[in-house]
Amino acid sequence: MDLGLAGRVAVVTGSSQGIGRAAALLLGSEGARVVVTYHRERDRAQAVVGEIGKGGGDAVAVQSKELAPAGILVNVIMPSATRTERMVARLPVQFLERSAQASPRRRLPGPDEVATAIVYLCSGGNTAITGEIVRVGGGAT
Ligand SMILES: NC(=O)c1ccc[n+]([C@@H]2O[C@H](COP(=O)([O-])OP(=O)(O)OC[C@H]3O[C@@H](n4cnc5c(N)ncnc54)[C@H](OP(=O)(O)O)[C@@H]3O)[C@@H](O)[C@H]2O)c1
Repeated sequence: MDLGLAGRVAVVTGSSQGIGRAAALLLGSEGARVVVTYHRERDRAQAVVGEIGKGGGDAVAVQSKELAPAGILVNVIMPSATRTERMVARLPVQFLERSAQASPRRRLPGPDEVATAIVYLCSGGNTAITGEIVRVGGGAT
């Protein structure tokens, strides 16, 4: 399916790692020109830019404070507990397992699953959703 992302610019805040990284990679693979932003981890952001470039995409890395409002659709994804690299490294395995068992699907979403919601909001299919907070949690609240 053509998501209508070719040539569109997607600014993904916090995309040097975790959910933002997964979203940036997916957007890049769908033809969007991706602005990868980071806080301190410039090398990680550059690595994401490199991965997008290897796949034939176009991306740049900027520190998030350099961005200014630009008249684009703006939405917030509100994930529940998500199995990002940092989460898995920092939280006890028992906590992650308990959280998974407490959720309706009995598993926590991965960053790729959150990324697909982000890509939809950025796609040509979305012309009217803006200013929303969208929960992505596999039914967890
Ligand atoms: N993972 C979860 O289970 C979960 C659940 C609920 C909500 N969330 C929220 O979802 C968002 C992404 O989560 P994640 O797990 O993907 O996080 P992550 O892996 O820790 O990545 C965080 C990203 O945000 C950037 N960042 C951190 N502090 C910043 C600041 N002050 N200004 C600008 N950029 C900053 C980081 O840049 P550097 O790499 O340069 O540090 C990195 O790119 C976070 O807001 C988190 O609180 C996550």
